[in-house]
Formats: sequence, C-alpha cells, structure tokens
Amino acid sequence: MSKVSVNPEGKVVLISGANRGIGKALAIEFLEKGAKRVYAGARNIASLDPLKAQYGDRLVPVTIDVTDQSTIDQAALATEDVDILVNNAGILFPGGFLDPQAIEQLKSHLDVNVIGLINLTHAFLGRLKNKPSAAIINISSMAGLANMPSIGTYSASKAIVHSITQGIRGELASENILVAGVYPGPIDTDMAKGFEMDKDSPEAVAKNVIAGISSGVEDIFPDTMSEQAGGQYQASPKALEEAFGAYAG
Ligand SMILES: NC(=O)c1ccc[n+]([C@@H]2O[C@H](COP(=O)([O-])OP(=O)(O)OC[C@H]3O[C@@H](n4cnc5c(N)ncnc54)[C@H](OP(=O)(O)O)[C@@H]3O)[C@@H](O)[C@H]2O)c1
Repeated sequence: MSKVSVNPEGKVVLISGANRGIGKALAIEFLEKGAKRVYAGARNIASLDPLKAQYGDRLVPVTIDVTDQSTIDQAALATEDVDILVNNAGILFPGGFLDPQAIEQLKSHLDVNVIGLINLTHAFLGRLKNKPSAAIINISSMAGLANMPSIGTYSASKAIVHSITQGIRGELASENILVAGVYPGPIDTDMAKGFEMDKDSPEAVAKNVIAGISSGVEDIFPDTMSEQAGGQYQASPKALEEAFGAYAG
C-alpha cells in the first residue's frame, strides 16, 4: 500500500490509447467518477468522436503515437495540467522466443509497450510533481509476472513494464505520486479477440483500477483471473511459471 491514495474527483487525467478497449473504459470511468478533464490520447483522434460527443469539453482528444516523439512533445505542449498519467497503449503479437520472427516481434513490443511508456512518462513527469496527490498508472499484464510461452515476447515486454513500475516507484519515493502497476488477465477487447477463454470486461477493469488508486494500492489485479494469478504469484512465483507454461502446452 502506498502512502499516497488518489481520488479521481477533480483530477486531470491523460490516457494513452484511450480510443478503445481498456483505455476507453478508463476514460469513461474517470469522467463518471468526477475527473475534471480527461486528455484522451489516440493515434487517430477522429476515433474519439463518439466519446467527445458524449462528454463535451471534459474529454479532450490528443494525438499521441507513443512511438513518435513529436506527437508526445506536442501533447505535452497542448495539455495544461495533468495529475494522473495512464500508460495504457499497448500491442500484442502472439509468439514465443523460438519463433523465427521472435526478434522482430520483441522489438515491436519493446518500442510500444516499453520505450513508448518511458517517453510518455518523461514528458509528463514534471506535471505530476509538487501536487497534493498524483499518480502514474502503468498497464502491465498478469503475463508480466511469469512468462506465457505462447505470447512469450509480449510477456517479456510486460515483465519490463513491471520492473519499470518498481523502479519509478523507488525514484519517486519522496514525491506525492502513487505509482501503480496494473496486471490484467484476459479482458474482452480487440487485443484478446483470438483467445478462447473466460474474459472480464474492460469496464470492470476500469472500476477496479480507480478503486485501487483511491485506496493507494500499488499492485492492482483488476479481474477474476488476475486476482487468482496475483495470489499465486505472491505465494509462489515458480508455481505461476508452471501454471502458465502448462497452459501454453
Ligand atoms: N485485453 C487483454 O486481455 C489485456 C490483458 C493484459 C493487459 N492488457 C494491456 O492493456 C492495455 C490496453 O489493451 P487493450 O486490451 O485495451 O487493447 P486494444 O483494444 O488492442 O487497444 C490498444 C490501444 O493501444 C493503442 N496503441 C497501440 N499502439 C499504439 C501506439 N504506438 N501509440 C499509441 N497508442 C497505441 C491502440 O490505438 P489504435 O486504435 O490506434 O490501434 C488502442 O487504443 C495494453 O497495454 C495491453 O497490453 C490487455
């Protein structure tokens, strides 16, 4: 548990990848829970038109491609104030480390899921400091806690996000900034379309993320399967590795 808890009411939030999936659900939930404004990041801001129509001035579309530094710089210039940064944008290509395309896929995962997250954090960190309460929320994955061989290179990128989250938390220990890692299991979004398994909704994830930061929770397991995996990880990382390895076959 962190010394900082972050109530969404009155806060200004910036979310990468806010046009669909978990990012969109988070944008809606922050606004419904009283956030003053959500800067909704998207590569194509026209994809935010329906949200904009629903929430008006409280939803501000911002062009952000986390692999394009010029869009990150422009976004930082275009946003006045941010209390909560949500590093949500992500990609997933199935495949493991022994596949011929492993290096190419690992590089793509690193570009978006890791380097993009760091660059966005650098751009907005100054805004978060010297506030009564602020937050950085990094969307990792339960597959970042132990490798899932069928999505091995993705898992590795999310393990780095887990490590970055711990590192940033240490670097910011003297600030009033909650650094939260979120470790979802399978969630019913485009990303998980090809996975035949029970999935929780992105709306449930969003509710649990906001409940988590409101209570100062640093490691958030926002759905049924991640709650189980999180418990298993805390009891025995080896048991989780074996469970994920067996799942992949
Ligand atoms: N769904 C799951 O089962 C699951 C489980 C664990 C963790 N997660 C994580 O949750 C986060 C959200 O995933 P999701 O399930 O909501 O996936 P999604 O529906 O596929 O949405 C991904 C979002 O990321 C954006 N994005 C991709 N590349 C980008 C880039 N270079 N710059 C900026 N935005 C980019 C997409 O924008 P475009 O519309 O422009 O492509 C989209 O808004 C990801 O970090 C993912 O790894 C998901």
